Amino acid sequence: MYNETLLMMPGPVPMPESVRNSMTKQAINHRSKEFGACYADIVRILKPVFGTTNDILVLSGSGTAGQEAAIGSFAKGKKVAALVNGKFGERLGQIADIYGEAVMIESEWGHPLNLEGLKEALENGAEVVTLVHNETSAAILNPAEEVGKLARKHDALFVLDAITSIGGDVVEADKWGADIAIVGSQKCLAAPAGLAAVSVSQRAWDRLSEKRPLYLDLQKAKKSADGNPMETPTTPAVPLFLALREACKHIEAEGLENRIARHHKMSAAVRAAGSAWGLSLVPQVDALHKPSNTVTGFFYPAGVDDSQIRGACKKMGIEFAGGQDRMKGKIFRIGNMGIIDTPEILATVAAVQMSFKKAGYKLEGDGLTAAVEVLSA
Ligand SMILES: Cc1ncc(COP(=O)(O)O)c(C=O)c1O
Repeated sequence: MYNETLLMMPGPVPMPESVRNSMTKQAINHRSKEFGACYADIVRILKPVFGTTNDILVLSGSGTAGQEAAIGSFAKGKKVAALVNGKFGERLGQIADIYGEAVMIESEWGHPLNLEGLKEALENGAEVVTLVHNETSAAILNPAEEVGKLARKHDALFVLDAITSIGGDVVEADKWGADIAIVGSQKCLAAPAGLAAVSVSQRAWDRLSEKRPLYLDLQKAKKSADGNPMETPTTPAVPLFLALREACKHIEAEGLENRIARHHKMSAAVRAAGSAWGLSLVPQVDALHKPSNTVTGFFYPAGVDDSQIRGACKKMGIEFAGGQDRMKGKIFRIGNMGIIDTPEILATVAAVQMSFKKAGYKLEGDGLTAAVEVLSA
């Protein structure tokens, strides 16, 4: 990528050239057929990627705007059971507590969810359940289908943050009973940062909160999107919509199954490298909880400093993420979202291995060879 830094972050991610170029066009009227067609293309392509036939609304704002729109539009004044095993689950719970009353059902970050705690909260009248499917902060994939079943059994609305899984892993919003599912543009969709897409079921529309946020009111968004041409209630981030449409076309061209298989293979290669190095994965897995297929987290061995590893890689032009909040300095996280493929994984694994060597730490084995094995299969 010559002078460009290779971003191996769990978002934002590198974008195809045509996606970048689509943002340089002259301004267009957002109340026009041209914009409406762009919005319609995005929704058409994203529906199967979400695994939904529900409405999809695109909001100008990052993934958090999607979270806040969902909670603000459907959970005002309600008791919300918020499942937490990482930073983003915690944030969703914090939003729920601003608009309603959150019951935080917490596990250690990266550990399995407390599903018994969820059952109890539902038996005690929780009307909404929130879950982060792919908890990026701890690189763990949570069991959305099981949580959806529990929510449905107790007739609660199910809000699913699939911000970092949609477009990179299997998401079946309808099958899993996700009344609301959210994706962020700068993650597996490989579009620029700044848009969130939110799917909404009829069940959710039937339970719309009376008082909703002004800017993030999903009903207003629906009313505008239902028009011909499709519109947004206020001026949208038009260049980002154009770029997202282009990114969606790349998804369509690759094919969803192929794209998901690629994400699985890339993350498997990173996990194989870590295992050969003798590093421990951050997520504690069990029959229901798996390591993420879009970001892989490892604990640093004792005596290795985050800046030695990520700092050295950054000097080589490769940037990935450290730990957030309580995980800061303890872990590093390599993303493989969007268009990341074999060359980027090989370069990153090699750079990490070199950085440990430079730091004077002897890894157990050769991660690069292990990654090559997976990638060659
Ligand atoms: C799982 C998850 N949820 C929510 C967010 C917040 O998204 P944004 O930073 O786009 O607002 C992130 C961001 O990394 C995330 O990984």
